Amino acid sequence: MKVPFLDLGAAYEELAPELDAAYREVMGSGRFLFGEQLAAFEAEYAAYSGARDCAGVGSGFDALALGLRALGVEPGDEVLVPSHTSVMTWLAVAAIGAVPVGVEVSETTYLIDPERLEAARTARTRAVIPVHLYGRPAEMAPILAWAREHGVLVLSDAAQAHGARLEGRPLGGLGDAVAWSFYPSKNLGAFADGGCLTSDDPDLVARVRRLRNYGFAEGQAADGVATELGVNSRLDELQSAFLRVRLRHLDEWNARRRATARFYLDALADLPIGLPPADDHCESAWHQFVIRVADRDGVRAALAEHGVETLIHYPLSPFAHPALRDRLAAPAAFPVAERLADEVLSLPVGPHLGEGRDRVVEAAGAALTLGAWRGRQT
Ligand SMILES: Cc1ncc(COP(=O)(O)O)c(C=O)c1O
Repeated sequence: MKVPFLDLGAAYEELAPELDAAYREVMGSGRFLFGEQLAAFEAEYAAYSGARDCAGVGSGFDALALGLRALGVEPGDEVLVPSHTSVMTWLAVAAIGAVPVGVEVSETTYLIDPERLEAARTARTRAVIPVHLYGRPAEMAPILAWAREHGVLVLSDAAQAHGARLEGRPLGGLGDAVAWSFYPSKNLGAFADGGCLTSDDPDLVARVRRLRNYGFAEGQAADGVATELGVNSRLDELQSAFLRVRLRHLDEWNARRRATARFYLDALADLPIGLPPADDHCESAWHQFVIRVADRDGVRAALAEHGVETLIHYPLSPFAHPALRDRLAAPAAFPVAERLADEVLSLPVGPHLGEGRDRVVEAAGAALTLGAWRGRQT
């Protein structure tokens, strides 16, 4: 039995009647951009994520970059980012000419460590991007308190956290703004690229609406009056309609992920690995189930021999990417992030895993017992 990391074909099949109907509706409407599907999705996602407003854009990357611009972050400004995250968080900062400044993550949560923010702050610090990595909410209360005290803007990266909750609250209205990705493999995924920005500040969202559409003032789109330097970054009608369908099923699919995560936490508890943190005040969306293993590559190969596909999020720390190396404010050491890059391994946790999870546990047991035996021989 093969266990794929994520089965996006099954994700389509389960909702095929609803998705096909949405497709026919949009195709028949003759309207493919800026129509009623986008407007309806924006309203529905704002409500779902607990924010006042939402603007759809072309990707999660654009949601971050346009969100930073809408907040007034300028070239040369410094933006604090976690040392361990997708490189895309750092790239979005660099894309607008700002400088990503790493803040070491916590060894237990793998998320930005609020205690380390102050040491990274300089006169040029304008914003911080907490990332809800792997679906687990960052510790927003101390981050927001620190940011308020020092006049630092807070844009969260929730690309992996649709449906996650902190102290029972959804994440979309926390801080100044929140960036989301609808990349197909996300918990709420489109069938192409997509993203959005949510916020409790309607003026900020209106600015993103202008920036995503060449800087055209809203209501004057037909006139094409560019009031600021915008880009073309649209969430189209088809993807909006598909996302509306999938949003209706998101909580149920997240519940399947949660059940698998609990199953793993229990079944893998005695193995010589690090398990992800799971506590009540942070309700993770379980976008990834990430274990830590000393012999990561050996265990990964052994799992593959048992037919279990795994991924690594991420094998190279953001600051080690050649494109970013020369753009960083100062060389800094991030030993926790470097250790994580060597040790993290993502197990399948998608909503269509089904009985595959038993196979994952069996294979992990076999791989790690063999690993321990190998360790004793050397
Ligand atoms: C943490 C994080 N930030 C940003 C992005 C960028 O999103 P997108 O692929 O939609 O541009 C992703 C994922 O793809 C991500 O996982």
